[in-house]
Amino acid sequence: MSNPWRTQVGIVGAGPAGLMLGHLLHRQGVDSVILENRTREYVIDRVRAGVLEQGTVDLMIATGVGERLRREGMRHEGIHIAFNGRRHRIDFAGLTGGRAITIYGQNEVVKDLIEARVAAGRPLFFEVGDVEPYGMDTDAPGILCTIDGEPRDLACDFIAGCDGFHGICRPSIPATRLQQYEREYPFGWLGILAKAPPACDELIYSNHERGFALFSMRTPSITRLYLQCAPDEDVGAWPDDRIWAELRARFETSDGWQPNEGEILQKSVTGMRSFVGEPMRYGRMFLAGDAAHIVPPTGAKGLNLAMADVSRLASALAAYYSSGAAELLDTYSERGLRRTWRAQRFSWWMTTMLHRLEQDTAFDRRRQLAELEYLVSSRAAMTSLAENYVGIPFDEDLGLGTGKTRRV
Ligand code: FAD
Ligand code: PHB
Repeated sequence: MSNPWRTQVGIVGAGPAGLMLGHLLHRQGVDSVILENRTREYVIDRVRAGVLEQGTVDLMIATGVGERLRREGMRHEGIHIAFNGRRHRIDFAGLTGGRAITIYGQNEVVKDLIEARVAAGRPLFFEVGDVEPYGMDTDAPGILCTIDGEPRDLACDFIAGCDGFHGICRPSIPATRLQQYEREYPFGWLGILAKAPPACDELIYSNHERGFALFSMRTPSITRLYLQCAPDEDVGAWPDDRIWAELRARFETSDGWQPNEGEILQKSVTGMRSFVGEPMRYGRMFLAGDAAHIVPPTGAKGLNLAMADVSRLASALAAYYSSGAAELLDTYSERGLRRTWRAQRFSWWMTTMLHRLEQDTAFDRRRQLAELEYLVSSRAAMTSLAENYVGIPFDEDLGLGTGKTRRV
């Protein structure tokens, strides 16, 4: 084994959480190595989130990786909720004192962060095999792995498990030291990217007899659309014509709105799950992002939770290295779980309000419609949705929040 190889923080995973953590640590003079098991192309091309909260946008801009986001991100001040053939707008800016969200693809975020890492000349390895954290409950943790066919041993002070829901870090915690809370949903989303200009300048969440549908976008020429489907739906059973016909049916409203159609560039199916592992720490290993928690995507919270986690973790590690103070590290999990459970509740609520369940009775359906009617007719209910959707500022996790955020 080629040793010694050492860093301050060994980061597993180069998704948004791992890359942003490496970036924030570098800016604060803390050394890190990022180990990713997939190829660079896979990580960049994976189409996932699109909605950034103001806290995520502010973090990217304040730390010098928001130049393209500032130019190309699309600021949205509201969303539409459609049901019973009608569309209703929820005015985020009006209801939350000017706050909004920004549409900018997760793969663009990842691309910008990889570029910054490479420009900084900091270590980032792709296609790393056999990743295995060890010694988390000792003073000498490390990560075993294989790079270019060579076994390696990375000694570090701390390990950051940023390796997503299916990663290796969380399962390496003894079962007795991790409490897990989980709910699987009996449906998934069939998502497409289409070469078509968005037909509405804000997102549309539609509750329809045939199932949920979501209209979103990536750029002024690319539309992103989702259909509720079975969790194990076969994409092959969905030729383009069937997808468009289903989208037209589920978005039908009395104002005649329909999405623009175009060449379908990508199709995929995602299952839905709520999951929290507590605590987000085991000895010298900290979990961040999807490695620690998963939300169904209906509330657009996953990527934003990941960014809030690493922002908190980077501050805690920087404080530790500059003064030896461990207090922020010791409260990292507790502060994160408060934000996580708030997002869990919101994502579960959005999901159950908007999707159809096969076992739903006529009573369930009427109750769901009554909930939607209440939502769009009550300023209090719309404010509750709006303030959760735009997200609480990141620094409120530290008890430092002003309640105000800057605009892009
Ligand atoms: P990941 O992105 O999963 O990254 C983890 C990385 O670790 C991966 O690159 C993986 O390859 C790597 N890895 C795994 N195992 C290992 C190992 N053993 N060794 C080394 N590396 C490993 N969130 C939002 O906020 N807004 C949205 O609008 C939104 N929409 C979504 C739509 C869809 C269809 C989906 C599926 C998700 C959506 N999300 C959304 C959620 C968001 O995409 C995730 O929460 C986000 O990717 C979490 O980032 P992460 O870095 O924690 O994990
Ligand atoms: C997306 O644009 O991919 C998107 C938007 C809103 C969501 C989930 C995903 O709730």
